[in-house]
Amino acid sequence: MEKRVLLVDNYSQEKTYKEKIQLIRNALIKEDYLVDTETQVDAVIPKLQEFIYSVIVMDTSVFDTQGQSLLGLIRTHFPHIRCIILAKDPSIKQSVETLKTGAFDYVPITTGIDDVVLVVSRAFPSTSIHQRSAVDHSHEDSNDSQFGDIVGKSPEIQKVFRTIQKVANTDSTILITGESGTGKELIARAIHHHSYRNNAPMIVINCGAIPGELLESELFGHEKGAFTGAHRARIGRFEMADGGTLFLDEIGDMSPTLQVKLLRAIQEQRFERVGGMRSIQVNTRILSATNKDLRASVDARTFREDLFYRLNVIPIHVPALRNRKSDIPLLIQFFLKRVATRLQDEPKKITDEAINLLIQYDWPGNIRELENMMERLSVLVEGNKIEVGDLPEHIVDKPSVVMTDEQIFMDLDKGFNDAVEHHQRTFSTSLINKANWVKTKAAELLKLNRTTLVEKIKKLNIESPKDQELEEDMIQFPVR
Ligand SMILES: Nc1ncnc2c1ncn2[C@@H]1O[C@H](COP(=O)(O)OP(=O)(O)OP(=O)(O)O)[C@@H](O)[C@H]1O
Ligand SMILES: [Mg+2]
Repeated sequence: MEKRVLLVDNYSQEKTYKEKIQLIRNALIKEDYLVDTETQVDAVIPKLQEFIYSVIVMDTSVFDTQGQSLLGLIRTHFPHIRCIILAKDPSIKQSVETLKTGAFDYVPITTGIDDVVLVVSRAFPSTSIHQRSAVDHSHEDSNDSQFGDIVGKSPEIQKVFRTIQKVANTDSTILITGESGTGKELIARAIHHHSYRNNAPMIVINCGAIPGELLESELFGHEKGAFTGAHRARIGRFEMADGGTLFLDEIGDMSPTLQVKLLRAIQEQRFERVGGMRSIQVNTRILSATNKDLRASVDARTFREDLFYRLNVIPIHVPALRNRKSDIPLLIQFFLKRVATRLQDEPKKITDEAINLLIQYDWPGNIRELENMMERLSVLVEGNKIEVGDLPEHIVDKPSVVMTDEQIFMDLDKGFNDAVEHHQRTFSTSLINKANWVKTKAAELLKLNRTTLVEKIKKLNIESPKDQELEEDMIQFPVR
């Protein structure tokens, strides 16, 4: 793999700085890096689209003016590129901001040339690519209930961990399925991270977010003049992922014409850029993800069957959070701790009652929803303990499952047997009403057989609305 560095040098006026950049450049070239220099800030992004860079070194003049947004842009669109910031007037504040935006390192310009070269070499993912076969992750945060930064002890997620370990270091295609927010991308990253390809980038492309016509050139790149507006050649994500992994997110949304091209590119590991004749050979491993039922799309003929089998050599299904509730307490603690580290604060504690409510909640947005909630609570709750009262209403509002203080108070003098009977009555009545008093349906909802239900209705004195109407009529009659 080429080791290509982009030096952004915007201090055209400052002689000493220019000289320093020149020295850095020479030192990098001596170390076999391919170095390009760019003096125009506007030209940086087009350059990143045209060539494959792993590392960018830029100065803080870039950062002060358009640099903040440039760094942000690079982090968003080229997350695999590592940005090193050379600071002319270094400050802690700027250093923190820069690193928060996602810079790889922040180095004062006064740092010796050798040290700058060292930082650059560290920014390159381990260079001994061909020398090692197995990947050593023994240093990682790993125990039975944590796999890198994936947390979970439920049998369901443990099975996912085992699959990742088994298949990561192969070249098989993997299709990751699961509802939104279940951790599909996190799993894809773990697979890439545990593969021998982990010193090349994992490139992500969201097939659902990019319109059809653009998606092809995003994937395969285009040549100069391929279409109006194609002023320069541009490499596609397939090429960027050469030696690494290409993660096709929301693959279920890809148009049928593009599906054909993708299938061919995967099978042959070669393709042409849009508007180009030259065939480009790559060595790219394909991971994809979807929250759709792809098999149903195959049946509906909106997704090609041959591509489906090609992508789905190894399926990984990530269950919804509501189907692995035993992970919830662990995830709560994990997120509270993580936010605390970020806020440089002590992790918030949380009461058992609050945890119980969070376990009972259905989590339609899955882990992403839980993560966001823990972040919000960490920031908003003033004391050091999260209590039931701090939880959002839609979590607390579950009177059928957890009793409010008021309900407990009303039940206090009933004692166990009466209270249980009372709850049997309210629970059954609500569900029978939901079933519109169709007893077969109600029995189904209550998971009772019909005869038992009829007995219960009698025993618990549950009255149908019709009976109530009758009663009301009788009460009203004498009044009239
Ligand atoms: N098991 C887990 N342990 C810790 N964090 C997790 C876990 N699963 C998911 N997350 C976190 O939850 C968030 C959502 O995960 P991710 O983006 O991977 O979901 P997704 O399935 O790709 O969602 P979508 O379909 O909406 O793209 C991320 O911030 C991720 O880090
Ligand atoms: Mg995703």
